[in-house]
Amino acid sequence: MSETETETQEEEFVLPQLYKRHVFACYTQRPPTHPRGSCGANGAQPLWDRLGKLIEADGSGEIGFTAAGCMGFCSAGPLMVVYPEGVWYRPTTPEDVDEIYKSHLKGDKRVDRLVMILSR
Ligand code: FES
Repeated sequence: MSETETETQEEEFVLPQLYKRHVFACYTQRPPTHPRGSCGANGAQPLWDRLGKLIEADGSGEIGFTAAGCMGFCSAGPLMVVYPEGVWYRPTTPEDVDEIYKSHLKGDKRVDRLVMILSR
C-alpha cells in the first residue's frame, strides 16, 4: 500500500460524533470510613443529579451524560470528565455545576478554577 493510499484511508475514517460534549460523572458510593474514599462519600450524587437535569432540560441533544463508576482517583472526588477535551472537574457546590454547564458545556469555555490536574 502506498503512502497516498494510507493517507486517503485515514481521511475517510472520520467517525461521526454522537455528541458535541460527553460528560462522565462518577457515582461510586463507598462507606464514609472506607480508606479509598469515594465521589459519593464526597457529595457527588446531588451534584450529578443537578447536572443531569440541566442537560436534559437543554434538550439540544448535543451533550451526553453518563453515570460512571469509579474512575480511579477516588479521594479527589467528586469527579467528572468532559470529552472530547478530556477535562477533569471537581465541583463541590450546585453553583460550580451550573458554571461548568453554562461555561464549558454550552459556552465552549473551560472553567479553570474547577479543573483537576491528575496524574497516574
Ligand atoms: S469513587 Fe469516583 S473516582 Fe473512584
